[in-house]
Amino acid sequence: MRYKVTKAIFPVAGLGTRFLPATKSIPKEILTLVDRPLIQYAIDEARAAGITEFVFVTSRGKSALEDYFDRAPELESALKEKNKSELLTLLEATNMESGAIAYVRQNQALGLGHAVWCARHLIGDEPFAVILPDDVITGEEPCLKQMVEAYAELGGNMVAAMEVATDKASAYGILDVPPSVSRCLPVRGMVEKPAAGTAPSNLAIIGRYILTPQVLRNLDGQQRGAGGEIQLTDAIAQEIRNSDNVHGYRFSGQRFDCGSKAGYLQATVAFALSRPDLRDELEAYLQELLATRQAAQ
Ligand code: UTP
Repeated sequence: MRYKVTKAIFPVAGLGTRFLPATKSIPKEILTLVDRPLIQYAIDEARAAGITEFVFVTSRGKSALEDYFDRAPELESALKEKNKSELLTLLEATNMESGAIAYVRQNQALGLGHAVWCARHLIGDEPFAVILPDDVITGEEPCLKQMVEAYAELGGNMVAAMEVATDKASAYGILDVPPSVSRCLPVRGMVEKPAAGTAPSNLAIIGRYILTPQVLRNLDGQQRGAGGEIQLTDAIAQEIRNSDNVHGYRFSGQRFDCGSKAGYLQATVAFALSRPDLRDELEAYLQELLATRQAAQ
C-alpha cells in the first residue's frame, strides 16, 4: 500500500517573543532571508513534496501573512507598465491559487499541539504534514519530500530528526531510538526538553512531521505539558504507546533555527553567500570585517 499526503498545516500563531520588538507588528514568518520571507521557503518545500492544500493556523496581528499570498494588482500593473518582466514573474510566483490556503485562528497561544488541533476540521480523516516555517532546511532534496517518499512505504507517523550536541539536547524534543545509522528509526519514546543529562539520545525532533488523524484525536483534551503548553510531542508519544507506529526520519540537509536570533543571522549569511548576485560583495565585506576585528584584538 502507498500512502499519500496532500494537506499541510503551518502553525504560525506563536507570539515570536524572541524577535521582539520586531514581532510586535510583523509576524515572525514574514521576516526575510535575503529577500524572501520565511513562509515562502516553507510553502515551496511543501509544494515540492506534493502538498496541494495549505492550512495556516494564525492569530491576531498576522494579516500580513494572508496578504503576502494574495495577488497584488497595483504592483503587478506598475511592473507591467515599466516592462519589469523579471520582477513581475518573481511576484506572480508568490500568488496562491484561490482556495488553496485556508486560515484558522488559534485565539490563545496555548502551544504547538493546540495550534495543530485548531486545524482538525480542515484535516478530517486524512494523514497530514506539519511544517514549522522557522525551521528552514536546505539541501539537494527538500526535507518534506524525503519524508513523503519514506512515508509512502511505511505509513504511520513520522517526525524529522537531527543529531544535536549533548549539551544542547534540553532545548529540543528528543527521541528514544535504538542505536542505528539508518535514515528511518522506530521511535520507542520521546521527551520534550529533557533535563540536562537525561536525554535518551542525541536525536532531536525538527519542525517537519507527517501524522495520522489519530494524533488530532489524541489532542482532544490533551493536558498541558512541558513549559505549561499543549505539546504536539505528547500527542505523538501517545501513538507509540497505542499503536507503535512512529518513526524518526534522519533527513539529509542543513537546518537553520530561524526562530532564534543566532540561527536567523547564520541563515541570512549562508543564503546570501549562495546567491551569485550577492556572494562576491558580501564575502569581501566579511573578510575585511573579520580581519579588522582580529587586528584590533
Ligand atoms: P515557538 O516555540 O518558536 O514559539 O513555536 P513562538 O511563539 O513562535 O516564538 P518565541 O519562542 O516566543 O520566540 C514554534 C512554532 O509553533 C507555532 C509558532 O508560530 C511556530 O511556528 N506556535 C507556537 C503556534 O502556532 N501556536 C502556539 O501556541 C505556539
